[in-house]
Amino acid sequence: MDHEKRELSDQLHGTINVPHIREPYPPIKVMEPNPQYANILLDSYAGTVSEMTAISMYLYHHYVSEDALPEFADVVEGVAIVEMFHLEILAKLIILLGGDPRYLGSNGAWWSGRYVNYLTGEPCLQIHADIQAEKAAIKQYRQQIIAIDDPHVQNMLQRIIKDEQLHLSLFKKLLDKYCPRPSCHP
Ligand SMILES: [Fe+2]
Ligand SMILES: [Fe+2]
Repeated sequence: MDHEKRELSDQLHGTINVPHIREPYPPIKVMEPNPQYANILLDSYAGTVSEMTAISMYLYHHYVSEDALPEFADVVEGVAIVEMFHLEILAKLIILLGGDPRYLGSNGAWWSGRYVNYLTGEPCLQIHADIQAEKAAIKQYRQQIIAIDDPHVQNMLQRIIKDEQLHLSLFKKLLDKYCPRPSCHP
C-alpha cells in the first residue's frame, strides 16, 4: 500500500474494534439441497429484517454520528463488519441449498434502501432503532430454526444469534450511558 492509500485508510477507519465471542462458527454446510429452505433464508439475507439492512443501517449510523457520539460511531461500525460475515455465511448456505443469493427477500422483492431507519441527527434514536433491529433479527432467526429442519443450518443460525445477542447488549450499554431517555440528545 503506498503512502496516499495508507493515509486514506487511516482516515477512514483508524482501528476498528470488531466485537466477537470466542466460539467459532460451525462449518458452512447443509444436509442436502432444499430450495424452500434457501428461500426462507433469503429473508434474513436481504429481506426487510436482514443482514443487508443491518449493514446498510449501521454504516449509515456510523457515518453521521461520528461528531455527536464517537463511541457509538465506533461500535456500530464494528458491528456492521460482523453483519457482513453473517451476510456471507447466509449467501453460502443459500447456494448450498440450491438457491441464488441475489439481494431480495423470500417474496421476490428486491432489497431497498427504504428498509433503513436513517434517523439523521438523532443518535439516541439510532441506537434505539439498532436495538430493535437486533431483537427482530433474533426473533426471525429463531422462527427460521423451527422452519428449517436441517441441523447444520440450525447450528449456524444458533451461533449467529449469539453474535446478535452481543450486539444487543453493546447497543443497550450505549443507550444506558448516553441516552437516559431515548429521545434525549447525548
Ligand atoms: Fe447479523
Ligand atoms: Fe447484529
